[in-house]
Amino acid sequence: MDQDPKRKYHQPVMTREIVELFEPIDGGVLVDATYGGGGHSRALLSAYPGLQIIAIDRDSAAVADQAPDRVRLHQRAFSEMGELLDELGVDSITGALFDLGVSGHQLDTADRGFSYRQSGPLDMRMGPNAPFSAAEIVNDWPQDRLRRIIGKYGEERFASRIATAIVRARPVSDTAQLAEIVRDAIPAATRRTGGHPARRTFQAIRIAANDELAEIEAALETALDRLSTGGRCVVMSYHSLEDRIVKRAFADRAQGCTCPPEFPECRCGKTPTLRLINRKPLRPTDEEVEENPRARSAKVRAAEKVAA
Ligand SMILES: C[S@@+](CC[C@H](N)C(=O)[O-])C[C@H]1O[C@@H](n2cnc3c(N)ncnc32)[C@H](O)[C@@H]1O
Repeated sequence: MDQDPKRKYHQPVMTREIVELFEPIDGGVLVDATYGGGGHSRALLSAYPGLQIIAIDRDSAAVADQAPDRVRLHQRAFSEMGELLDELGVDSITGALFDLGVSGHQLDTADRGFSYRQSGPLDMRMGPNAPFSAAEIVNDWPQDRLRRIIGKYGEERFASRIATAIVRARPVSDTAQLAEIVRDAIPAATRRTGGHPARRTFQAIRIAANDELAEIEAALETALDRLSTGGRCVVMSYHSLEDRIVKRAFADRAQGCTCPPEFPECRCGKTPTLRLINRKPLRPTDEEVEENPRARSAKVRAAEKVAA
């Protein structure tokens, strides 16, 4: 019998490293904020028999199957983690895991509109509460707003040319047309560098459609507040905008006194509540990247709560 019904839904990344990072906490409640195909949750359950998991995913496809024993699975945005924990009567958690971004299932399902390699509707919403569809962003937003998000969320240096080309081509009907518009807007000489020419623009539209960065900021705050002393928060990000938010949130709580050195004694009263487990993010092994190219850009940061 197939032990893992969602085996093909998503190939989990850096599973061994993630399981090891939670090693000190066999017990209590861990929040898997990005359940997806449940690969990480399953690995954690089998490594830590004392663990209970509250799993969250905003995508109805991720919560469609029955969750394994010891997992309570909820369709929510992870920014709603605080309300969910209150509803479940859970005050504190011993672990929080975030595996950010999209699942293999979302990328591979053309109908969801995430892929620049397949033709699909301009959608890109991860769940029903996403603020915008890609179609609204691409066809309705003013050119300047479009340029800003492509530049900021896509870190795309040709944002201005791309936004102009999109507005000229309106109405844009599907992802294949959008990918072609973006490719044609980028100077031919640079098209061959940095992967598919539409990758950064699609990333930008996806982040805007799902308000992804605000989601991460809000959920990290809640997760770090709710961790019990000794509990751990592990975050895997896939691009620098996500990683920067995680790095800052951890660093802010790991920092002690911020008084200027000339002060004879501390006046800010700030004491560290987190300890960084790895100063530099962990990266996947070459073998893993070869076997699963989607692991390529993964970075894992982890921190332990040391004081309330
Ligand atoms: C990379 S996949 C996680 C894969 C999972 N770790 C596994 O082993 O299968 C990311 C998942 O997080 C979900 N997700 C992303 N942002 C979310 C948010 N703000 N709230 C809830 N779920 C979110 C996506 O729908 C997707 O299913």
